[in-house]
Amino acid sequence: MQDQLSALVERAAAEIPHICSRPEFEAAKAGFVGPKGELTGLMKQMGHVPKEEKPAVGKLINETKQQLLKILEAGLARIEAAELAAALGPAIDPTLPSPDPLPGARHPLTQVREELNAILRKVGFTVVEGPEVETEYYCFDALNTPPTHPARDPQDTFYFPADAKFSNVARKVAGEKYLLRTHTSSVQIRTMLKGEPPIRIVSPGRVYRRDTVDATHSANFHQLEGLYVDKNVTVKDLKALLDYVLKSLLGSDTQVRFRPHYFGYTEPSFEVDLSAKHLPKVNQEWVEIMGCGMVDPAVFEDVGYDASVWTGYAFGMGIERIAMMIYGIDDIRYFYQNDLRFLRQFA
Ligand code: DAH
Repeated sequence: MQDQLSALVERAAAEIPHICSRPEFEAAKAGFVGPKGELTGLMKQMGHVPKEEKPAVGKLINETKQQLLKILEAGLARIEAAELAAALGPAIDPTLPSPDPLPGARHPLTQVREELNAILRKVGFTVVEGPEVETEYYCFDALNTPPTHPARDPQDTFYFPADAKFSNVARKVAGEKYLLRTHTSSVQIRTMLKGEPPIRIVSPGRVYRRDTVDATHSANFHQLEGLYVDKNVTVKDLKALLDYVLKSLLGSDTQVRFRPHYFGYTEPSFEVDLSAKHLPKVNQEWVEIMGCGMVDPAVFEDVGYDASVWTGYAFGMGIERIAMMIYGIDDIRYFYQNDLRFLRQFA
């Protein structure tokens, strides 16, 4: 009996690991431990075992059964693993890069923004961001634009109700109103209040105006602001920087022209025009592209800088207008429609 039991375990250990399919496994299992199987057959012979040997043989049968079940369990686990692997298909290494091309491409506005950032980084500018929800202080007052200034006309922009609260923007004055920023120039003030000169920052981002939407206007568009504060900064430095930036972006055939203008926060102030006839579809001689100037001493006073020591320049340009020139796009609304036929052209 003992020999028969150990022969049974040996056979199971030899056969079960070679079984590859579930039906085969079930048949083998029934053959070893099923009601009509070999182990059951051997158990039935217990009747012929002398009484005094019965406990020992009973124990042996039990141990044999446990050994057989263990072998069967391992066999089943192996079959299950093989079934799962077959369902998953050929072996894959999920850590390898996907063989598929990237599913997307950067938006043309993102491309222009990143290119401008990179050009300005090369000459020492750091990219910073500011909040789109602003208070009147950062957007106007600190930029030397008093409440009577037309740029503050509440009809011109998006104000929030007087009791609105935003945790990320501090009110400088009780009762001051929140609004969606009308320009990125507010980041100039935030940066100057946070640090000490010299300062050299560029800040791209969304701005909002109550403009009627048409081919060249949108209530939500993008600007890129620049600010440089140091000793002995002159208009010549400003002109040289903008020449460098615009020629790097649009090509060396680009011409840049300054026209006198007025902004509350710069003195003198200029509007900058571009001539870039080598670009597709630019049929105008000069295209107005940005505002700029030398930081007004009143702005320095407001942020606590000594205006007799510090000088600087600032500029703000519209990213859409530049992207429209580069790519020959004649309607600003294409940028916001998420039409793949449009976007794929820039992939
Ligand atoms: N904030 C102006 C606008 O939105 C652009 C601008 C003009 C920015 C002069 C400046 C600046 O930094 O110095 O039209």
